Amino acid sequence: MPRVIGQPTSRIDARRKVTGRADYAAEALLPGMAHGVLVGATIASGRVEAIDTTAAERAPGVVLVLTHRNRGRLGAMPSGLDWTTGQALDPRPPLADDHVRYHGQYVALVVADTLEQAQHAARLVAVRYQEQPPLVALDDPRAPRVAPEAALGVPLRIERSAPVAPLDIDVDVACGDHGDCRGALAAAPVTVDHTYTSPAEHATAMEPHAAIASWTDGELVVHSSTQYVGGERAALAAAMEVPVERVRVVAPFVGGMFGSKIATGGHAVLAALAARQLGRPVKVVLTRPQVFATVTHRPASAQRITLGAGPDGRLQAIRHHTVTQSLVEDGYPDDNEYVEPTTFTSRMLYACPNYESAHELVRLNQMKPGWVRAPGEALCTWALESAMDELACRLGIDPVELRRRNHAAVRPGDGKPFSSKHLLACYDRGAERFGWAQRDPRPGSMRDGDVRIGWGMATATYPGLRLGATVRLRVERLDGSVTATVSTAGADVGQGLYTVVAMTAADALGLPVELISVELGDTRLPPCAQAGGSNLTASVASAIVDAAGELRRRLGVAPDAPFADAVLASGEAAVEAEATSTVIVGETDRLVFQSFGAVFVEVRVDPDLGRIRVARVVGVYDVGRVLNPLAARNQLAGGVVWGLGQALLEGLAYDPVHGQPINGDLAGYLVPVHADIPAIDVGWIDAPDLDFNPLGVRGMGEIGITGVAAAVASAVHHATGVRVRDLPISPERLLG
Ligand code: MOS
Repeated sequence: MPRVIGQPTSRIDARRKVTGRADYAAEALLPGMAHGVLVGATIASGRVEAIDTTAAERAPGVVLVLTHRNRGRLGAMPSGLDWTTGQALDPRPPLADDHVRYHGQYVALVVADTLEQAQHAARLVAVRYQEQPPLVALDDPRAPRVAPEAALGVPLRIERSAPVAPLDIDVDVACGDHGDCRGALAAAPVTVDHTYTSPAEHATAMEPHAAIASWTDGELVVHSSTQYVGGERAALAAAMEVPVERVRVVAPFVGGMFGSKIATGGHAVLAALAARQLGRPVKVVLTRPQVFATVTHRPASAQRITLGAGPDGRLQAIRHHTVTQSLVEDGYPDDNEYVEPTTFTSRMLYACPNYESAHELVRLNQMKPGWVRAPGEALCTWALESAMDELACRLGIDPVELRRRNHAAVRPGDGKPFSSKHLLACYDRGAERFGWAQRDPRPGSMRDGDVRIGWGMATATYPGLRLGATVRLRVERLDGSVTATVSTAGADVGQGLYTVVAMTAADALGLPVELISVELGDTRLPPCAQAGGSNLTASVASAIVDAAGELRRRLGVAPDAPFADAVLASGEAAVEAEATSTVIVGETDRLVFQSFGAVFVEVRVDPDLGRIRVARVVGVYDVGRVLNPLAARNQLAGGVVWGLGQALLEGLAYDPVHGQPINGDLAGYLVPVHADIPAIDVGWIDAPDLDFNPLGVRGMGEIGITGVAAAVASAVHHATGVRVRDLPISPERLLG
């Protein structure tokens, strides 16, 4: 039986998708379904002084108008990230009271027989506000500044240190600090000390957030666009104050998410509430502007990086102070804080004996920030890798050579070994494929006519996570042959989980892929972690291998023998086994699991217009074994496209007076389109990380974005001599 793992394999769900038979959340047609339209606040800070729903209630087709005055009781949604607690996008329940904390915050839900009737009536809801000047910028001196006490459920060391420069703070969350950073910086022959900023960045998934809720005999069923049915079930059960066993969340297909669909949105809670009150199904779909205003985003940030080095470029100290935005507090539990984990990366990326970090939150009148693709790494690598390029320029050392000299063979600080690290090979192969040896290091020296050419590079990284999955494997006799069904609640959000599950099961059982059925995205299936943290392939594949092993043992089939004959010979109509993979969050007692890569970028800059075109990108990644090369290319190149958007285009802007998003739709919020995207050449080392799981796979959903923004900024500097430290690198930043 030829093995299918490692073979380029087309998506087994492709036909359903292109023929419109893949059901997304908003597409369920339930009998008697009503349509809910959310009304958003038109101020960003203040109170609802009066809300008049009379006209809306009288409008044709309207069956319910919910506001904070009549919405009734909701339970508190906890803040956890696991399937026993769930997490809320906005930590305050929807329509909690008359407080408005961000523009677009829901102030009413209008439900009618048809969508058009609900849209019409939503415009008739009359709200009078008492408006306060909103807090909209990280550097607003009125905005409360706090040091988070804990983040992400990961224990962090809390330290106090003396305030230093403008962005420094007096109470720090420090992550993996080691050595004497201040002493080493004072003594370092060379220092580089700059602040790098970035605006709020949105996940911009193609499918808007949507939920259809229905109740039958006290059981709630929600069709939801979620990357985490288990978490959503727990959160909705808490909000509705019913046992989790009475809630089912269904998400067989999800149109992209990138972190924005981990937590449960107020739209889903209100759909469930309205459906219960009305005794009929209710569907609520966010408009695109509502997605921008009321769904989480990568926080605006300012990161100050201070590097101390010797004349040979060897790092002696790294300081990393991060400031990110948070939502004004207003009484929500502070264990529901979101702290972008930037320091997880800076503490381990390079061999450096002295390291110090700090994090500060600035509370603003904008939706609470949260998970967005490579949360932490995408921002940290923007700042740290830019600073490394500045250090390379200062010392006249080639940027790749500088990274090699600072390569960390073990994790700095504690000396814990990496399970499998091939970063040096990524530098070598990437440089080779890109032609880096031809680079003239002098800024502005490489030209094509009037066009300036710049080459930049950066290190990429993302941890190896396994957040746990239970998989059921059922093998049945069918007309003299056998078929297998693999079931788990994990979601295929576009990353190709259906296919890789089928491939893994096919190899584990010695059956062709065509005989494997896959069931995903339903809380009725065995529980599974979120499709997030690039973890699902590793989590699910491990459990499939274990479940298949269990079946083999039971039927006495040798590990490499095909399974079908044994099932047929056993006389059983069906055999079934379940297995659960354990949780590994980046490390065990013994080993650190971390992916790495190197990304190289060529930009072409028109010096008169400041126009930047990315001409080509080469990325080489060490992500463990690659199970499906087609999906791997998709994921890695897709991540690079994200990085190009972060570098050149993206940023949610808020009106400084009224605090509303001023480019909160797909006309105003720029993301890369095909014309912006050059040839992207991604490759991988394909070294299995067998300490991580039996297949040696580490996942690759997020690493592709990391490093790209710094590589672009470094390439722009190489082309023009202009160092841009504020994202996005828009043309006006080059015209000064
Ligand atoms: Mo991802 S930001 O862990 O969905």
